[in-house]
Amino acid sequence: MFCCCIFLSVSLLHSLCHFHVSGYDPSCTEFPVFTPSALVVKYGDPANATCVVCQKDCSENASGLEHAMGKVTQNGTTMFWTVDRLTEWDIFVMCYYNTDAGDQCSSSLDLTLYQPPESVSISFVNHTGMMFENQQYTLQCSVQNVAPVQNLTVTFYRRNTALGHLQSNSEEKKPVNETFTLNITPSREDDGAQYWCEAKLELGPAGPQRPPVVTSEKLPAIVHYGPELKEPPNPDVITITEGDTLHLNCSSVGNPSPSYTWTLPTNSPSYSGSVLTIKSVGFEHEGQYICTVSNTVGTVTKEFNIDVQVSSIPYTYIICGTLLGALVLVGLSLGSYCKRNQRGNYKLSKIIVTDS
Ligand SMILES: *[C@@H]1O[C@H](CO)[C@@H](O)[C@H](O)[C@H]1NC(C)=O
Ligand SMILES: *[C@@H]1O[C@H](CO)[C@@H](O)[C@H](O)[C@H]1NC(C)=O
Ligand SMILES: *[C@@H]1O[C@H](CO)[C@@H](O)[C@H](O)[C@H]1NC(C)=O
Ligand SMILES: *[C@@H]1O[C@H](CO)[C@@H](O)[C@H](O)[C@H]1NC(C)=O
Ligand SMILES: *[C@@H]1O[C@H](CO)[C@@H](O)[C@H](O)[C@H]1NC(C)=O
Ligand SMILES: *[C@@H]1O[C@H](CO)[C@@H](O)[C@H](O)[C@H]1NC(C)=O
Ligand SMILES: *[C@@H]1O[C@H](CO)[C@@H](O)[C@H](O)[C@H]1NC(C)=O
Repeated sequence: MFCCCIFLSVSLLHSLCHFHVSGYDPSCTEFPVFTPSALVVKYGDPANATCVVCQKDCSENASGLEHAMGKVTQNGTTMFWTVDRLTEWDIFVMCYYNTDAGDQCSSSLDLTLYQPPESVSISFVNHTGMMFENQQYTLQCSVQNVAPVQNLTVTFYRRNTALGHLQSNSEEKKPVNETFTLNITPSREDDGAQYWCEAKLELGPAGPQRPPVVTSEKLPAIVHYGPELKEPPNPDVITITEGDTLHLNCSSVGNPSPSYTWTLPTNSPSYSGSVLTIKSVGFEHEGQYICTVSNTVGTVTKEFNIDVQVSSIPYTYIICGTLLGALVLVGLSLGSYCKRNQRGNYKLSKIIVTDS
């Protein structure tokens, strides 16, 4: 019984040896060799390969090349397989010989049939139009009719920055349509940027020198965000001298462009600019100015508290004027006194100096 089991196992192993491809059968001293060792062919293109069945110890009559397409010519133990148009996705090319012991030693051709993506397009998942800053959106890149999808790499870009590389898990050999997704969270700097994706078939050294690349159209990003003041609010009271020019700068950025409304201390006409200018400040301009900046996303306010000081220049004038007036009066009276008492040339300045 035990012997029987061993016998069964051995014969099972033995029969398994008859099916398989190169590398496993211990009774095969050598295996057929294909040239080139790997073929990468575009769907519909011609292809050819040569197989040397064995270098020694095999009969040309006991060897062959299995092929689903094309034709084979044999010269001794060398087989030449050729096809005008390769259009079989499940193509399998195998070269073999049978040993005297009845074992089959075989190799299959490493053959990749490819088709560059027919089209590539980009869109948002469940979203159209503008986006809001700091919210998450999903970009989707759809690739049509590409094979083999396992050699496809999809890259998402914003402007010229690669955001991520994605690959398929599928092992399908035939052309497929596949979509790849990437989550993005736009920031205000991304406003006006363009998103796009690129599908590239990476077919290795046996593939075409320039890997087939197909890019999508460009998807412009409109990112809306609430207004932000260019200069942060200043909580201190702004002191300004009467008669000076006052600039209250409320300039802000935002998308859409923000609008400005001002609440003024007096019943002045309404104003809607970003910078409020008062050419010559008077006391009636004192008080609180509130600038409200808003767009469809949000609102910010900036407060200015204005304190107007009396100009120091008129005081100087008054003081100087009074002093000068007084001196002139003193000088005049002194002059007339001198004229009356002495005939001489007194300089007014000298008199002033002595007098003061
Ligand atoms: C075999 O294929 C190679 C590579 O595609 C090509 O350069 C060559 O001309 C082909 N030979 C024949 C006989 O078809
Ligand atoms: C192969 O077969 C042909 C005819 O069928 C025969 O003439 C030839 O001798 C055989 N060659 C070998 C190596 O067995
Ligand atoms: C077959 O191979 C031999 C030796 O490699 C060569 O001399 C001969 O020309 C080949 N015949 C054909 C038909 O290719
Ligand atoms: C998109 O919206 C549809 C219906 O509104 C929903 O069934 C689907 O799950 C959504 N897809 C994603 C990725 O959110
Ligand atoms: C891929 O999409 C195209 C167009 O939508 C369609 O014609 C084709 O049948 C699809 N292919 C597969 C494999 O689903
Ligand atoms: C295709 O992709 C598979 C899986 O990533 C890889 O093993 C194989 O070498 C690739 N084929 C070529 C021709 O590069
Ligand atoms: C207002 O402030 C912004 C930002 O600092 C500046 O670019 C702009 O020139 C200022 N405008 C005036 C009129 O001062």
